Amino acid sequence: MYNKKTIEDIDVKGKKVLARCDFNVPMKDGVITDDKRIVGAIPTIKYLAEHGAAVILCSHMGRPHNIFNEKLKLDKKEIKKIDELPESEREAATKAALEKAKKDIVKFSLKPVAARLSELLGKPVIMASDVIGPDAKAKAAALKPGEIMLIENVRFHAEEEKNDPAFAKELASMADIYVNDAFGTAHRAHASTAGVADYLPAVCGYLIQKEITIMGNALSDPKRPFIAILGGAKVSDKIGVIENLIEKVDTLIIGGGMAYTFYKAFGKPIGTSICENDKLDLARSLVEKAHNKGVNFMLPIDNTIGKEYSEDTVYMEVSSDMLPDGWMGLDIGLETQELYAKTLKGAGTIVWNGPMGVSEWEPFSHGTIAVAQAVAEATENGAVSIIGGGDSAAAAENLGFADKITHISTGGGASLEFLEGLELPGIACLNEKD
Ligand code: 3PG
Ligand code: MG
Repeated sequence: MYNKKTIEDIDVKGKKVLARCDFNVPMKDGVITDDKRIVGAIPTIKYLAEHGAAVILCSHMGRPHNIFNEKLKLDKKEIKKIDELPESEREAATKAALEKAKKDIVKFSLKPVAARLSELLGKPVIMASDVIGPDAKAKAAALKPGEIMLIENVRFHAEEEKNDPAFAKELASMADIYVNDAFGTAHRAHASTAGVADYLPAVCGYLIQKEITIMGNALSDPKRPFIAILGGAKVSDKIGVIENLIEKVDTLIIGGGMAYTFYKAFGKPIGTSICENDKLDLARSLVEKAHNKGVNFMLPIDNTIGKEYSEDTVYMEVSSDMLPDGWMGLDIGLETQELYAKTLKGAGTIVWNGPMGVSEWEPFSHGTIAVAQAVAEATENGAVSIIGGGDSAAAAENLGFADKITHISTGGGASLEFLEGLELPGIACLNEKD
């Protein structure tokens, strides 16, 4: 496990601190629809400001491509693409690319985050209009202890995702200390999440500390029985997690589309259900591994099935041996919901990642709701419950169970990689405790 220095292990007074957060929040028409990640970063930001640091925040937002460089010109790669076109098409292509880039600058800007942050903190957050350009640098240089600023989306520079050392050095040049609190991006080895630690003393913030402590304890010293619930469409996304958790859990509950790959692997009819035909051997070997370890490996015993992959399709319930041709499984069935709920009742530790069905469609949301409810109840009875970010976290939140769960991770991919037992580059790069 990690034994990294935290913001409390370093003197931040009078220092410029570059703090990487994961402000990659969902947005709709310029409005933040879920500010959990911003709220999650507040304790670190407050601590730094209250302890006399000048706080320079940075983050990515989305995956902007076709981007402007610092001089607000098209990126080299984009120019090369246009150069390869026939001459007659180049002018129009340049115009279109510039227009798209201009729109993307607005679409992927962190400005709405600065506004939300300022509301949450009850104090101004200074917004820079660039990343390592003149505006960011001037504002960083003028920033006083206790003040907070946010630079623009680090992914406006293609060098960010390449972990380009020169870019990381430029970021570092604005500060004396680097704090990483971006748990949701800790699985990326990018310039602002890892590279910058080569140039500055580097410690973690409270959010990273909290995430790895709660999830780390659950994995290394779980209160038993330890039950993992894994859902989602594909087995291939969860192979690493299943393999790692088989070594640790007492029961492994499977739901979601990936159940049908397991069904097919054991000769059950699956109709037109989603299935990874190249993962059948793997599915069999995972089940065998579970049995050899004495892990109770549970697959749905019935399903809610539909004719089409659509919210309005006709649907019905069938047992797992009876899935007819021309129908597809879209949720776990009623009996499975009861069985899983009963199983979860006695849990000591629960780790959940991935919905049980197409939970965003009402007819196929009941499996996920039932499991969320069962996890909430088990928590009330003393279980430690952890939901990996992403779809299952959103489901728990939308269904109103969020405050009944011990810990909902702010990381999707990051929590999955943590549960896989992989090293996270954004944490590995930080300084060890003395
Ligand atoms: C996420 O939302 O998964 C993180 O913010 C990382 O974003 P990315 O998957 O685009 O790297
Ligand atoms: Mg992601």
